[in-house]
Amino acid sequence: MTPIQFAIIIGLASLLAWVPFALIGARARKAGPVSPNQLEVQPVSDVTDVGRRKFLLRGVGAASLAFLGQFALASIDFLYPRLREGFGSKITVGGADETRAELANREPKFIPDGRFYLTLYEGDPADAADIPAYKSANVDVSGFMALYRKCVHLGCSVPWCPPAKWFECPCHGSKYSINGEYRDGPAPRSLDQFRVEVVDGQIVVDTATIIAGAPRGTSTTQPQPEGAHCVTGAG
Ligand code: FES
Repeated sequence: MTPIQFAIIIGLASLLAWVPFALIGARARKAGPVSPNQLEVQPVSDVTDVGRRKFLLRGVGAASLAFLGQFALASIDFLYPRLREGFGSKITVGGADETRAELANREPKFIPDGRFYLTLYEGDPADAADIPAYKSANVDVSGFMALYRKCVHLGCSVPWCPPAKWFECPCHGSKYSINGEYRDGPAPRSLDQFRVEVVDGQIVVDTATIIAGAPRGTSTTQPQPEGAHCVTGAG
């Protein structure tokens, strides 16, 4: 659910909470004012009951209003940072030159706010330009890949396996290369990606749109693991 959808649901729920009070108020207005004669013939106990009912009704209304106000403020406080930056928005990772140097040791950088791994694209940019998923993610131009950590099989978080220098899913054994290309297991495609742009020397990753990973069989980078696997077998 996006933050906007969440805010709409909160707004509708708040409005619905006021419906019973609006109905009671409308019925009271329709009944009109009580005449002095009516008041005179009412027994004292009835008058006391009406006063108590009004008092309770107003108390409940005030308490509901206070609750809704606090809830709305808490919701805005909860949503505001996410509307500004975080998963679902554009995330500035850092300087392109420094990050390129940092990633040269072939260890992906995990960005928790964006739930993705940043890696250097190790293939030929000309190959990347011919693959629709890579083209959408701007891989051929930026030289970076932002790989969504969610496994494309059944959604487990995929950790990095340092000895093999592959991503290996512990749930059912799917394996992906350092550039997220499918290697093994039940995953139907390569890891999904986000578009990466370098703006004024800064790496900006747009996590608002998930770009479906390249199909199985895509192999533009080193196909073999460097060492032992962290996960064996494919369930
Ligand atoms: S969820 Fe990753 S292999 Fe099944």
